[in-house]
Amino acid sequence: MQQKINEIRSRALEEIKRVSDSRALDELRVRLLGKKGELTGILRSMGQVTAEMRPQIGQWVNEARESIESAIAQAQAEISRREMEKRLESEKLDVTLPVEERSTGSLHPMSLVLEQLLDIFTGMGFEAVEGPEVELDHYNFELMNIPKNHPARDAQDTFYVDDNIVLRTHTSPVQARIMTTRKPPIRIVSFGRVYRADEADATHSPVFHQLEGLVIDENISMGDLKGTLDTFARRLYGEGVTTRFRPSFFPFTEPSAEVDLTCAACRGKGCRICKGTGWIEVLGSGMVNPKVLEMCGIDSHKYSGFAFGMGVERLSNLKFNITDMRNLYENDVRFLKQFRG
Ligand code: DAH
Repeated sequence: MQQKINEIRSRALEEIKRVSDSRALDELRVRLLGKKGELTGILRSMGQVTAEMRPQIGQWVNEARESIESAIAQAQAEISRREMEKRLESEKLDVTLPVEERSTGSLHPMSLVLEQLLDIFTGMGFEAVEGPEVELDHYNFELMNIPKNHPARDAQDTFYVDDNIVLRTHTSPVQARIMTTRKPPIRIVSFGRVYRADEADATHSPVFHQLEGLVIDENISMGDLKGTLDTFARRLYGEGVTTRFRPSFFPFTEPSAEVDLTCAACRGKGCRICKGTGWIEVLGSGMVNPKVLEMCGIDSHKYSGFAFGMGVERLSNLKFNITDMRNLYENDVRFLKQFRG
């Protein structure tokens, strides 16, 4: 019997040596030591041996089991080591391989200017608000003191959705929305798209952007407007850039002024961009017309205010030396990637 057990053991150890992967080793372990294995068979047939021999045989079987188990454990360790080595080998990273270049995005010049504008105005205590692009005629025109048949309507080639609804032609209706819902003091800026039925060319687009400002409080004067816009000009284009006010007319302001900024390209000396004048026209402004205040429910005897509206494409073109507005909308990445902010 002892010999038989020894034979089983040496055969098992031989087999274990030949196994080279963990799966096969696991199968072998089940076959050698499991319920159907030869060693288990011997224990099962103990009934046929004498009572004195049983403990002896049991001990031999256990010894054989133990040596087979430890051989399996050893083999397992060896196999794991080899498998790990193989994996490390195959997953090796060659850091010298050339990489595929990935281009990163950049902010659109309009976004860059907008961020800066909002920084400047919120820094002066203005709150940024928004209004709808599809707007009621009531806000876009009526409350801005541009009644039906007013000649000022012709100046803004309007996209009408129906008799009462338009695509807003300027950001000024946001003024009316704020004045009809809030009480002074009011200090807001509003940025967004506006629409006019214009042919697209180097300086026109049927969709463009405006930034509107409105301040209403007691004792607001034209001096406050001038100071605010001077500060804005200096912060946007740097020291030495200032404003020039020219008398103008807007139905919603009285008095009204067209405002020029020192040409940022030549610092006022006169160049091609400012057509030799040293000035660039960028915005409309004025003291909010008392009639507008009253229509919006604000006591014009107690309160006064100023307002301004500017074309943002103009500002970004001046800032980045862009000569054709269409570049801003054609989304040619060769153009856009120049403006990594
Ligand atoms: N809404 C005017 C336009 O689109 C611009 C403007 C002028 C806005 C004077 C104002 C203002 O707030 O006071 O042409």
